[in-house]
Amino acid sequence: MERRMIKIAPSILAADFSKLASEVLSVEAADYIHFDVMDGVFVQNISFGFPILESVRKTTDMTLDVHLMIESPSLYTTRFAEAGGDIITFHAEAGTPQSIRKAIGDIHRLGKKAGLAVKPDSPAEVLLPYIDSLDIVLVMTVEPGYGGQEFLPEMLPKVTRIREIIDRRGLDCELEVDGGINQQTAGLCIAAGANVLVAGVAVFRADDKDAYILKLREA
Ligand code: DX5
Ligand code: ZN
Repeated sequence: MERRMIKIAPSILAADFSKLASEVLSVEAADYIHFDVMDGVFVQNISFGFPILESVRKTTDMTLDVHLMIESPSLYTTRFAEAGGDIITFHAEAGTPQSIRKAIGDIHRLGKKAGLAVKPDSPAEVLLPYIDSLDIVLVMTVEPGYGGQEFLPEMLPKVTRIREIIDRRGLDCELEVDGGINQQTAGLCIAAGANVLVAGVAVFRADDKDAYILKLREA
């Protein structure tokens, strides 16, 4: 079988914010920049928001992959798209069916890509009503909230199940994994069917980031 194209999305949550521009530029060998927004309510941590996204947008032409770990995401998706996000992904657990559909529509109207994320406790089924209109599905492989946590291998069957749904329906939808991805766990995720790998600590702590990104892509 032909190997699907693997994309790497370094998470700037693991970057040194005192030199954010050079940190962003240091991972340009990757495909996406992953931008984790946390509100202290949906998750017990607060990260960054619109002004930082605008700064990152000015720094690079890379695809900005925004991951909203916030309550009421439909109130903010448009602003994150306007602040420079190319892909806007929010959590299925944070919205009502009506607000999820509204947010996907709002993101698409701005010509951006829409994604839905699921926490470890949420089954693949929560995505089913929306999957035909999504550009990306994000499977959390740790509990959202913090970088540097250990990968949860019990998430792999969920990745495989979503891959089967995407392929069976012939959807043009990427499948992203996020949390605890490194040289050891990347291959497991690719084998399970993921094609976008988020990696924070593993990439930003690597001595040679270009080489590490390549290793992840070829894992
Ligand atoms: C966790 C975030 C992740 C995080 C991944 O809530 O969604 O994107 O930055 O970090 P690592 O790769 O260090 O687990
Ligand atoms: Zn993330």
